[in-house]
Order: sequence, then structure tokens, then C-alpha cells
Amino acid sequence: MTTAVAASRSTRSGHNLPSEVAGFVGREREVAELKRLLPQTRLLTLTGCGGCGKTRLALRVAADLVPSFPDGVWLVECAPLADSALVPRAVAAVLGGAQSGGAEGFDLTEREREVATLIAQGLTNRQIGTALFITEGTARLHVKHILSKLGFTSRAQIAGWAVAQGLAEAPEAP
Ligand SMILES: Nc1ncnc2c1ncn2[C@@H]1O[C@H](COP(=O)(O)OP(=O)(O)OP(=O)(O)O)[C@@H](O)[C@H]1O
Ligand SMILES: [Mg+2]
Repeated sequence: MTTAVAASRSTRSGHNLPSEVAGFVGREREVAELKRLLPQTRLLTLTGCGGCGKTRLALRVAADLVPSFPDGVWLVECAPLADSALVPRAVAAVLGGAQSGGAEGFDLTEREREVATLIAQGLTNRQIGTALFITEGTARLHVKHILSKLGFTSRAQIAGWAVAQGLAEAPEAP
């Protein structure tokens, strides 16, 4: 599973779905089938070969359903997560962000969120320091705090969290 779409219990309606940049072709039957199946289950899994359109289909159905869910429809990107144990936290991060209007994730400071974003963009501590006009040591300290606050052990986990929060784009597949 790389993508989870959840109806949240937040008090704020809306969504965090990416806008479709290119046209959506066909799949009328699949869209209708998914809309029929979704209310009957808590988890609906789309399977198929790589690149066959699972994500686009899920996002299209999710977008169509936004008006049907007063609490919104929320995308949680699971592909960047290195460990399945991180899925609940990724979901909580997105839904928590929804609840707080996306202003903060857990108790990370604005600066720590900036650092997390840059980590997701692949920057080293030195490069982060340069980008934010802070020393490399300060950048390292921010990373340490982020790891501790989010309960993570690696930069990859921070990157996955930042993507799940919508702070950064998912990395391009190689
Ligand atoms: N119905 C569609 N209309 C237009 N473009 C589509 C459609 N379905 C898929 N695509 C395009 O095909 C490419 C692959 O689609 P997508 O990422 O949804 O596949 P996927 O099955 O999720 O792949 P993966 O297994 O790698 O996660 C993307 O560029 C996507 O925009
Ligand atoms: Mg996909």
C-alpha cells in the first residue's frame, strides 16, 4: 500500500489532495465501482502493475468524494515511509495538520518544520545551514530535536513525514 485516503474526524472540512495537472482519461467503470465499494469498507486496496494508474484513480475518486465527507478527505503518502510502523504516525500527522489548519505538525517549531522540509529535499546539515543562515551545528541540533519530537531515528523518516505533511514533494522515482 502506498497511498491511504482517510475521512478525518477533524472539525475542519477540506482536503489536501493534489490538483490534477494533466487530464484524467477513461476509468469510468472503475471510478463508479470504487464509489460503490467505499461505503462498505474501512479499507479499500487498489492493486495492479506499476504505473497502471492506481494512484491517479484513487485521487480522482477521493476528489469526487470531498463534498460527501463533511470532515474532509485526506491523502496520506505512505510510499516514502521506511517502516510500516510509521503509518499510524503519518496518518496522525496529516489529520493533526488538518485539525490545526496545517499550521503546525505535532509540536515542531516553525524553524524545525523548515529544516524537515529541506531534509525532504535531500539537503545535508551543512546545506540546510547555508539555506537558513544558521551554522551547521545549529542545523544538526534542529535535526536532533525533530528526531526526538517525532520519535524517529533517521532523516528518511523525517523526509517521509514532511511529504506526508505536504511540506515537500515526494521524491521522483529513480
Ligand atoms: N486515467 C488516467 N488518465 C490520465 N493519466 C493517467 C491515468 N492513470 C494514470 N495516468 C498517468 O500514468 C502515470 C502512472 O499513473 P499512477 O502514478 O497513478 O500509477 P500507479 O499505478 O499508482 O503507479 P505505481 O505502481 O508506480 O504507484 C502517471 O503519470 C499518471 O498521471
Ligand atoms: Mg502509485
